[in-house]
Amino acid sequence: MGDPKRSEERWWEDAIVYQIYPRSFADGNGDGVGDLAGIRGHLDHLAWLGVDTIWLSPIFTSPMADFGYDVADYCAIDPVFGTMADFDALLDDVHARDMRLLLDWVPNHTSSEHPWFRDAISGRDAAHRDFYIWRDPAPGGGPPNNWEDAFLQKPAWTFDAASGQYYLHLFLPGQPDLNWANPAVESAMHDTLRFWLDRGVDGFRADVIYAIGKDPALADDPPEFVGLPHCAVQHEPATHPLLRRIRTLLDTYPQRPMMIGEVVALDVDVMVPYFGDDDELHLNFNFAPTYMPWDATFWHDAIIAAEHAHRRVDAWPTWVLSNHDIPRHRTRYAQWPNPEVDTTGSEERARAAAVMLFGLRGTPFLYQGEEIGLEDADIPAERVVDPGGRDGCRAPIPWTAAPGHGWVDPWLPLPQHAGIRNVASTIEDPSSIVHLYRRLIDLRHDEVVLRDGACDVFDTPDGVVGFRRTLKGHRSVTVLVSMNDVPTVVEGVEGTVLVDSLDATADATGFDGRLGPRQAVIVEASPVGAG
Ligand code: NOJ
Repeated sequence: MGDPKRSEERWWEDAIVYQIYPRSFADGNGDGVGDLAGIRGHLDHLAWLGVDTIWLSPIFTSPMADFGYDVADYCAIDPVFGTMADFDALLDDVHARDMRLLLDWVPNHTSSEHPWFRDAISGRDAAHRDFYIWRDPAPGGGPPNNWEDAFLQKPAWTFDAASGQYYLHLFLPGQPDLNWANPAVESAMHDTLRFWLDRGVDGFRADVIYAIGKDPALADDPPEFVGLPHCAVQHEPATHPLLRRIRTLLDTYPQRPMMIGEVVALDVDVMVPYFGDDDELHLNFNFAPTYMPWDATFWHDAIIAAEHAHRRVDAWPTWVLSNHDIPRHRTRYAQWPNPEVDTTGSEERARAAAVMLFGLRGTPFLYQGEEIGLEDADIPAERVVDPGGRDGCRAPIPWTAAPGHGWVDPWLPLPQHAGIRNVASTIEDPSSIVHLYRRLIDLRHDEVVLRDGACDVFDTPDGVVGFRRTLKGHRSVTVLVSMNDVPTVVEGVEGTVLVDSLDATADATGFDGRLGPRQAVIVEASPVGAG
């Protein structure tokens, strides 16, 4: 195992995190929407898989305009998910399995149904008026500036005729932005963190956290950003002192809670300032790869960029391929390079991507269902429910091969091929992708070099990503990922295969440098000539 001190104090660096989108994970009461009872009932699957940390997308009281990312009460469980007693029982069950639980904290905005906003909109003198961001119309009328919202491509401002002012919402009109420049907001939001920390949660994924500090002048976006959602381009200095005070609060808790930030920046160098001097966020998502094609040149450069940026600020990286906001990576890679091509090879690509994910230096984040190779569901027009067009990746998890696959009349259609791509059937088949995931997680737990070792990308033939993981006093390993659709030979890497993406059952076979199409391997070997 790694340095035990680090494991305890900076546990998130050794963690393997599994994201649950509660509406679609498992349904305990048969109402078609997943819930906390459903999650409790399937913790054994996660324990079997080997993940040690669970992140729950929001479970708080919400009118569900953005399916929970519009919170009406930060300290209560929405009845669709269960009760506070269900939550406490879930937390106990998670801890009893030596796992940790992260909640999704939504600090940038509330729901318009939150009592703070209901009061704020009641008049200019309301006690909570300044909890939100209100402005008079621009001279001559219209919104106060040119910012656009994230989903509707409309002004990020809604006019309240009664008070004659606009309020700001970087997302839906039902998600008014909080005014973090008001110390009362900061204090009230800190209280929401304390509420869950006192109950024993192990940390948070912080939604759109980079956007909580606003430009005091609310200046227009420059012309080159017009047409982009404002939340995609805003990075304000005002956010950093807020993050430092959040970190100070977190650091007072004995469970060493971790906060990972959703920092939407396609350039990793724009993201890393949110670590501060190890006094802001513990971890941050690196989203650039989630927008990249299945192309070795992109990945080669992205791994080097992430290594360089994180080392520069002495911070710990994370890697993620899929989440509830983007098409699943299997679906994305099936469409590369030609959106017309169907899913030939998509399973092999998903398998190779998994080998890369667990081979890289940094905490891996999985999204529910990727371990059974799910693709996005096809959502007919009449079943669309998300204003952001993200229903496909949020489809319910098929648990069994039986009709319904563990669901009765689910809120979204199931993903395609649920008859074979379900948890029970994939577990029954030792060659399936779920066994590859399990083996990779096992290897990651066993091999300290995969967790702590340096990661150096080396030159490889076109279409192949290669990197070496090295740690003094431990065997080194080489990770090779072929993104080619034809066989490729990599000179100078030979040794024993620890994991083969195409054969989850392969045991200690030899590797002679030949990679099949869409094949990835982790090899105990050093490139010839390397020290
Ligand atoms: C990011 C979340 O991941 C997404 O689902 C949500 O719609 C927005 N933030 C707004 O909260």
